[in-house]
Amino acid sequence: MSKIEEAMQKKAEAEHRGKGRVGEKDTTPQSGVPSRRITPPPPAEKVDEHIVSFHRPRSGLTENFKRIRLVIENMLPEITNKVIMFTSSDGAEGKTTAALNLAAVLAHDTKKRVIVVDADMRHPKMHTLLGMKVRQGFGDLLTSDAPVETVVVETPVPGLSAVLCGEIPPNPSELFGTERCRELFAELKERYDCVVVDTSPVLPVVDTVRVAPCADGVILVVEAAKTSRKKIRQAVQMLNNANASVMGFLLNKGQVVLSDHYAAQYSSGG
Ligand SMILES: Nc1ncnc2c1ncn2[C@@H]1O[C@H](COP(=O)(O)OP(=O)(O)OP(=O)(O)O)[C@@H](O)[C@H]1O
Ligand SMILES: [Mg+2]
Repeated sequence: MSKIEEAMQKKAEAEHRGKGRVGEKDTTPQSGVPSRRITPPPPAEKVDEHIVSFHRPRSGLTENFKRIRLVIENMLPEITNKVIMFTSSDGAEGKTTAALNLAAVLAHDTKKRVIVVDADMRHPKMHTLLGMKVRQGFGDLLTSDAPVETVVVETPVPGLSAVLCGEIPPNPSELFGTERCRELFAELKERYDCVVVDTSPVLPVVDTVRVAPCADGVILVVEAAKTSRKKIRQAVQMLNNANASVMGFLLNKGQVVLSDHYAAQYSSGG
């Protein structure tokens, strides 16, 4: 045996001994996603001002989200654990803002176990609106067999947990159609009373069409005076073709000033 071979054999033996040492903790993550560190949620003032259901729970705008909650409960009365997805035909119509407002209302009023999931792998923004930093999240779950609880974090909204976007995979549209994705939503449904999901817009990318069948109900956010009927029709058709359950539309950025004024007066008396 040459000196080089001898040295290599000694090195291999030393490495092998090191691995098997009794009492030494194996710090290698078993699933590819390390366990969540228990850290306090960020302060409330970091939450985006547009999450009115959190900042102004007695305002008229929050009352609108309570009405939406009521509609959802009436439409899905027999299902306790629900997955509600927010999407829109095109970008920037208010999906993330609306999803978080509804989630805050659900968490505040019903004292149910509520979780938000950022499944928008193209323009993830839930963490920004919540004033949080992202470590692991939904992207990591899709690309590994990590247990859901390893990426669940607490948000500044009391009673509201979150699975943020995490590492963005290179092929989200493929991953959204997998059995793993279906299993993840089934598990989230089992663990939480309500799962509110933010997704990408329907027309520019196919991600949402692929993931939407995992939802009990899909809400299409429509920007008032901007989204064309043609685009709305196209988006609904694509979702229907995928056997997704479109529950209805949420008209966003409409004439909120007047209704907010009256609704605020109304709600402050109750
Ligand atoms: N009701 C509203 N009134 C005023 N501004 C709003 C309202 N809803 C959302 N916005 C603003 O519109 C912009 C887009 O909102 P948001 O990020 O929620 O849209 P989105 O549909 O999730 O966008 P994307 O397609 O990029 O994910 C943000 O600046 C947000 O603050
Ligand atoms: Mg968004």
